[in-house]
Amino acid sequence: MKRTEYKVYEDLNGAGDGRIRYRSPRFGARDLFPIETPSVTMMNVDFNLQDLSMTGLAILGANDNVLEVGTTAPLVMRYGARTIFEGQGRIVRSEHHGGGTKLGVCLDGDYLDIPRLREGHREHLISRQIVPQRLRTMRMVPDAYRRACADALDLVRSCEPFLAEASEMSRDEEKALIDTVEAELTPLWMELCHEIDTVLSDVRADTEAMATLKQYTERVVTPEFMIGPIWKRAYMKPLGYPGDFGVMDYAYNRRDVGSTAYGRLIHRLGVASLDCVETRMVMMRDILSEEMSNTDTSAPLSITSVGCGSSEEVRQALRLPVMRPTHFTLVDQDDRALNVSFERLHPETLRLSDTVAVDCLQTGFQRLVDPSSIGQLIPPQDIIYSLGIPDYLKQSRAKRFCRSLFRQLKPNGRLVIANVQDLPDNGRWRAECISDWTLLYRTRDQMADLASGLGGTFEVLEDETRNVLMLSIRKPA
Ligand SMILES: C[S@@+](CC[C@H](N)C(=O)[O-])C[C@H]1O[C@@H](n2cnc3c(N)ncnc32)[C@H](O)[C@@H]1O
Repeated sequence: MKRTEYKVYEDLNGAGDGRIRYRSPRFGARDLFPIETPSVTMMNVDFNLQDLSMTGLAILGANDNVLEVGTTAPLVMRYGARTIFEGQGRIVRSEHHGGGTKLGVCLDGDYLDIPRLREGHREHLISRQIVPQRLRTMRMVPDAYRRACADALDLVRSCEPFLAEASEMSRDEEKALIDTVEAELTPLWMELCHEIDTVLSDVRADTEAMATLKQYTERVVTPEFMIGPIWKRAYMKPLGYPGDFGVMDYAYNRRDVGSTAYGRLIHRLGVASLDCVETRMVMMRDILSEEMSNTDTSAPLSITSVGCGSSEEVRQALRLPVMRPTHFTLVDQDDRALNVSFERLHPETLRLSDTVAVDCLQTGFQRLVDPSSIGQLIPPQDIIYSLGIPDYLKQSRAKRFCRSLFRQLKPNGRLVIANVQDLPDNGRWRAECISDWTLLYRTRDQMADLASGLGGTFEVLEDETRNVLMLSIRKPA
């Protein structure tokens, strides 16, 4: 353990700035009462509290209603009907201050108990919030939603006792046990998830109701799921943004992780919620592989992934036949994602001895789609794709995103954009409410709209879970 440096007594000098007289610490009103400052009243006049110490306070009043220096009167500090201090105040100073008069008040025979005032502030905030919060929940969270959340919790918790013996088991036995419990649990769990998604789709348009419902879920349901690593990472967002490569990797590698068998079961429920991440990756891998294994041409291929994360589809595509020289440009704003991509892809490029090259760019797509800089960053490409960025862009932004990337394609090049599909039962409860992971879900028409006006031929594909739409736009040759 590292010890702090210390001085010997001879070097301890006191204030050291010429000041000798001690004054009890003074606190700004906003520092001591950050959320709401109490009102201060003397002789039925209201004042704004400016600052205070144990021995006195400064208050600001209107010019036409001030008390004379020397006045002694009861002083009350309160929040509504809750009094947090009552004592005798004496005006000792008066000065013009901005649009009012600032009075210095000394407390005669009394003092301000600072910890007690802090407590009064806290008590006030609590009383101000608990009751209204309860009323809001009662009013805005539908009974059907509350009932279904309780059932969902009951359902997953009811599985825990069946896993109690797992700690005595071998890894294989434990896995078989979790498989059995998961097989029984999954249909019931999915039924409830779909039921809740349907309730959500009725509430979604009401922003306040949706916010209340999310808060309710985060208080009631989310804590149960934090034992599952994928839920925890999705909710806690340790890298500071949702859907980081670590969450995606849980969906790709499908390993059992968690500190207990119950945790591993809960983790599996989260991984299953992201089945569409894997199917989307497989669709993209196959698109890449089809071009890379095309023997009709030996022309080099150039491919750019925007928001590449761990680039799992590239890694897998490199394990399939590669017949054409291919240059990948991987773009991500996060160098930690690029590190993972590079660590995984570099050995593959060495194995493929010069057929494949990988360049990584750490930049926001904003710079990439800026017409003045994109040409310097990447030359015209055969394929540009983005999995997992458009889900966060409003329609007008997403259209501009597509237009800029489309412009950067070679003739006959292809732009591929994936987005979660707007369906009534597409996992919104699990993403948005339990995991605080908000996405913009799109319909087929909205996906087609992203292609409109670009002048290419397009198709909208669907992954096998139906939760993802993939827009593919081909530029004229
Ligand atoms: C949901 S992940 C998808 C990763 C990968 N495409 C996949 O499917 O596994 C989104 C990725 O986009 C990156 N990203 C988010 N905002 C970005 C931005 N403004 N510019 C570039 N990358 C961004 C994140 O760092 C993250 O790695």
